[in-house]
Amino acid sequence: MTAIPLSAPDITDAEIEAVTRVLRTPHLSLGPELHAFEEAFASYHSVEDAVAVSSGTAGLHLALLTLGIGAGDEVIVPSFAFVAVANAVVQAGATPVFAEIDPVTLNLDSVAIERAITPRTRAVIIVHTFGVPAQMDALLTLARQRGLAVIEDTCEAIGARFGDAGQARLTGTFGDLAVFGFYPNKQMTTGEGGAVLARDPAHADRIRSLRNQGRRPGGDWLDHAENGYNYRLSEIACALGRVQLSRLDEMLSLRSRAAARYVEMLSEIPGLELPPLTLPQRVISWFVYVVRLPAAVNRDRVQAALHALGIGTGRYFPPIHLQPAFRAARQEAEISLPLSESVAHRALALPFFNRIEPAQQSAVADALRETVAAELG
Ligand SMILES: Cc1ncc(COP(=O)(O)O)c(C=O)c1O
Repeated sequence: MTAIPLSAPDITDAEIEAVTRVLRTPHLSLGPELHAFEEAFASYHSVEDAVAVSSGTAGLHLALLTLGIGAGDEVIVPSFAFVAVANAVVQAGATPVFAEIDPVTLNLDSVAIERAITPRTRAVIIVHTFGVPAQMDALLTLARQRGLAVIEDTCEAIGARFGDAGQARLTGTFGDLAVFGFYPNKQMTTGEGGAVLARDPAHADRIRSLRNQGRRPGGDWLDHAENGYNYRLSEIACALGRVQLSRLDEMLSLRSRAAARYVEMLSEIPGLELPPLTLPQRVISWFVYVVRLPAAVNRDRVQAALHALGIGTGRYFPPIHLQPAFRAARQEAEISLPLSESVAHRALALPFFNRIEPAQQSAVADALRETVAAELG
């Protein structure tokens, strides 16, 4: 059997030609592709402006700085998430405060957020985990009542929608700021890259300045209004991103179909919990396909068995508060996130990408069925 990777980018001749075209020009950074990509990205989301940055993590960092969040401030984040969410808060000089998730959507739970609020809380980072939109109506109401800024982390959820039929809006258009990421395992990729949507044009200006060494937009190359970063996105990446974005809806529908096929193939496996295919008020943007193994099954052994058959899997995600990098944080004694821990302990991401073939999914399902049966004896 040929190997089945966990994820794979979907690059066509159109992307290769677009990148090659850039390489034949003298503009490899801060050129026309950047402007065109930002315009197309804003237009896809029906907003005024978008700022491209070098990664999702860079976008989160700049979103926090732009809100003036720093030393002494707390930011509520999920622990069941990719570590960048908490790293960005630390990079901004603030403290991540981990809150519990909803058992169905696996997104931050509004009651848990409320409990985590202290006089130091300035913002909440709402991650649309695995492409499933968070309960944005309740979360926005809570944030408004408690005076918290909302940063949407849309890195896993480009093209998802939340809201009642006819009024649903794209994720990334709800928060004060929204951050996207384009790593190669994402629904669309720029190799490395990210983007930020800002409701306030002043925030967008500030992010443009901070991504470019603190230069004022339109200012001289060697005039720096403040300390900034090199979080620019190259012309090559932007050209790739433009083509990917033009194909996004087609790619998302391939992913939805692959998710539906997994449901058919996996639903008979005893004790295996599948992610919901549909949820009220939501259009899911399928980022990954994460099942929950029966509690009695040893995930490491399942992963090893699938690996031996050439099948890639992932532990999405180990809780951040249990990572060595965060364990020593002052909160340890107070942190109790049993749901995050139990979901994380059982979660297994299966191979999932635009062009995954039914035969490959079937091979994954067969291998998983046999391995789980062997585990359960
Ligand atoms: C929820 C979430 N936030 C942030 C990031 C960070 O993005 P990047 O890898 O582009 O820095 C990722 C994924 O990579 C992510 O899944």
